Amino acid sequence: MDDILNELEARRAAARLGGGEARIQAQHARGKLTARERIELLLDEGSFEEFDMFVTHRATEFGMQRDRPAGDGVVTGWGTINGRLVYVFSQDFTVFGGSLSETHAQKICKIMDMAMRNGAPVIGINDSGGARIQEGVASLAGYAEVFQRNVLASGVIPQISLIMGPCAGGAVYSPAMTDFILMVKDTSYMFVTGPEVVRTVTNEVVTAEELGGALTHTRKSSVADAAFENDVEAISEARRLFDFLPLSNRSGVPTRPFHDDPARVEPSLDTLIPQNANTPYDMRELIQKVADEGDVYEIQAEFAKNILTGFIRLEGATVGVVANQPMHLAGCLDIDASRKAARFVRFCDAFEIPILTLVDVPGFLPGTQQEYNGIIKHGAKLLFAYAEATVPKVTVITRKAYGGAYDVMASKHLRGDVNYAWPTAEIAVMGAKGAVEILYRAERGDPEAIARRTRDYESRFANPFVAAERGFIDEVIQPRSTRRRVARAFAMLRNKKLENPWKKHDNIPL
Ligand code: HXC
Repeated sequence: MDDILNELEARRAAARLGGGEARIQAQHARGKLTARERIELLLDEGSFEEFDMFVTHRATEFGMQRDRPAGDGVVTGWGTINGRLVYVFSQDFTVFGGSLSETHAQKICKIMDMAMRNGAPVIGINDSGGARIQEGVASLAGYAEVFQRNVLASGVIPQISLIMGPCAGGAVYSPAMTDFILMVKDTSYMFVTGPEVVRTVTNEVVTAEELGGALTHTRKSSVADAAFENDVEAISEARRLFDFLPLSNRSGVPTRPFHDDPARVEPSLDTLIPQNANTPYDMRELIQKVADEGDVYEIQAEFAKNILTGFIRLEGATVGVVANQPMHLAGCLDIDASRKAARFVRFCDAFEIPILTLVDVPGFLPGTQQEYNGIIKHGAKLLFAYAEATVPKVTVITRKAYGGAYDVMASKHLRGDVNYAWPTAEIAVMGAKGAVEILYRAERGDPEAIARRTRDYESRFANPFVAAERGFIDEVIQPRSTRRRVARAFAMLRNKKLENPWKKHDNIPL
């Protein structure tokens, strides 16, 4: 018996060594953790249960039959994060560069299938040289099996990708189809074709970091949701994100004990809006003051800064927040902001996360750049996302809600459940200046007349009461009591039932 036990331990020890000490050291020398160290940090202590530790590849070409390391370059299994079930795979760069073989893919597929059956998220840690070159089409087939599962799992269980090394070629499309991508600065990159190919085809000279590093993807392409300094920070932030997410589309949002009075009053909010309607203020302050314990998990903080998206908790339960940010581009909606917020709204709706919308929007950004690049289609994405969402929707207009953007931002007309406005709200087709210039074009030469007309327009329309008279605003609320009003509204909506007509799927303007 002892012999058998010893053999098991010896086999386990060999498997845990992956590609061997030298390669582990090389991994560390680059500032990267190993596949197993990452899992250790990600999961609750002692909670990891590994699958398929002894799986080996079946390739025979290129002398591969002589090199069959246990585990085949990926560590898979399940465990918990703060006590909640999660499935993980972590590619092991020390084994054939973490490259994906047929059996490597099968291991990933196995835990994805289990996650779907048992209703829990998958976190994938990517650190791979791509398709296992020695396996050819068998590897490509393996990728496609993973892709297919990513798609079927989308909207059923949350999928999070941590990019912690290379992720190139078609391999990028698996993370691309997951809900959130977190990257590590300087040690991770994602691109469809690498710098060498780019140079040959387009004559552009670019480094891997410039082409597909964490800053590129969080600031320019918006492929990734956040960038972190190192593996440890990325993993601890992944745990924090996970805590906000439901286990599946049927589980409901997680709730946890809270130590923050839902009726907390914030007198400072009464002066958040500056006297001058064109002076910016930081919408983040409102989000923080509404949130339980001021805790906010921002998504895509570095991209399209004119709109904020993220998660907070109210009475311990997760709520998604979308908010115009007057600090950037006056909080207008442009292509990037519309795409960013639309994707976030759809994530929330798919997973039954209620949505709080904070509105201060002067309209859509004008210009040829925007029109040529399709603001019509991209703006429609956000409109579409809000209109199809059936989750509880609570909206607070703090200041401007002009034109089409008023309609888009979870207005009453798009089935907003509770629509509040601060007394400082201005709900109108456009700002006073623009309106008067159009309505009283003939008086343009008379500044006094124009000023009078502007004052008149402002007193008639630059307030929330015209909308409130029609019931488009349910109540004009004191800024200081926003947290209480919003928390009570979501509590009232807890058992909301709303279904869209049956369809195979919609045709959102992609
Ligand atoms: C097999 C691979 C491999 C691969 C790396 N290795 N990539 N083995 N298949 N795709 C092995 C190396 O032989 C080496 O083995 C070890 O992993 C580490 O690789 P190094 O090159 O020494 O590391 P580094 O200098 O850090 O470079 C990493 C790298 C580079 C940039 C990822 O290895 C590389 O360019 N690899 C090839 C990438 C690639 O072209 N993949 C196919 C892309 S096409 P030893 O034994 O020396 O440690 C693709 C299509 C997917 O992925 C399609 C999906 C639809």
